[in-house]
Amino acid sequence: MKHSVLSGMRPTGRLHLGNLYGALLNWIKLQEEDYERFYFVADWHALTTGFADSKKMHQNSIEMAADWLAFGLEPEKSTIFVQSLVKEHAELFLLLAMITPIGWLERVPSYKDQMAQLGKSKTSNYGFLGYPVLMSADIIMYKAAFVPVGMDQVAHLEFTRELVRHFNTTVGKSVFIEPKPLLTEVPKILGLDGRKMSKSYNNAIYLSDTEQDTESKIKVMFSDPRRKRKTDPGVAEECGVFMLHKIFTDENKCSEIKESCSNASIGCVECKKILAKNINNTLRPAREKRAYLLQKTEYVENILIEGSKKASIVAKNTLNEVKDAIFSNSRF
Ligand code: TRP
Repeated sequence: MKHSVLSGMRPTGRLHLGNLYGALLNWIKLQEEDYERFYFVADWHALTTGFADSKKMHQNSIEMAADWLAFGLEPEKSTIFVQSLVKEHAELFLLLAMITPIGWLERVPSYKDQMAQLGKSKTSNYGFLGYPVLMSADIIMYKAAFVPVGMDQVAHLEFTRELVRHFNTTVGKSVFIEPKPLLTEVPKILGLDGRKMSKSYNNAIYLSDTEQDTESKIKVMFSDPRRKRKTDPGVAEECGVFMLHKIFTDENKCSEIKESCSNASIGCVECKKILAKNINNTLRPAREKRAYLLQKTEYVENILIEGSKKASIVAKNTLNEVKDAIFSNSRF
């Protein structure tokens, strides 16, 4: 039997280069390998800290799915679905909640971190405390062996593994397998201000940006502070602009830029112009596809609805097994 991989993203907004190159490209790469693939919009997870924005959820989900499709996620190769359209996620979450020790939840590092970052008003709810339980349900529903995620999600995966062991022991049957994170090398993508690229820092370049937006953003991007004047030599490897060149510019040109930066024969203005042009050239096909898809939101919705139907078949089977294990009966 083929192994399954599964991953999800919260629909909190449009995807920026950090999300695209940090996560989505890995998902897409896995389409070339011999796995069953499940990729989903984690809309209930977005509610745990973003209930105030619930009215934007549908639009955000469509835009995120359009970004995925525009970049090359294919419904023929991957089951692309929406968490809230597969109600079994809620049922499994509820059953798992019955055996989850509260202490384990309070110990998950992101619980305290997020609480400190987002404040009490967004995080003192029962759903937020249960975030890792819902995430576990998402993963084990499809018996995923591997979960392609970033480092920030590893503690959640560890939680899931512990919960799987606890569940299997409690019911006396190995219903679930322990999923492993699939950490792939993620290029370092710095934002316009030199910090990590992030929506909340307001320093990101989006697939949805126009070519002009991209140019003006790159123009004011933070570069090597050693280069106050054009005649000051710089160190490309320590410059956020060059980090992006490494992704969007071919190797020969990159070495040339590195050299010209270190002997101050190229200025930041020119270097950035080249970068903006290369980003725009690289993203152009995906940007066009995205714009096209967003004129046909029904088409995108249908992909998600059909994907959710496929996911539901697997999910129903799993719940039958779970009910069998818990109640010795899967009928009720
Ligand atoms: N917690 C993940 C994030 O913030 C989103 C997510 C929800 C997820 N359920 C998942 C990721 C299951 C992988 C598997 O990015």
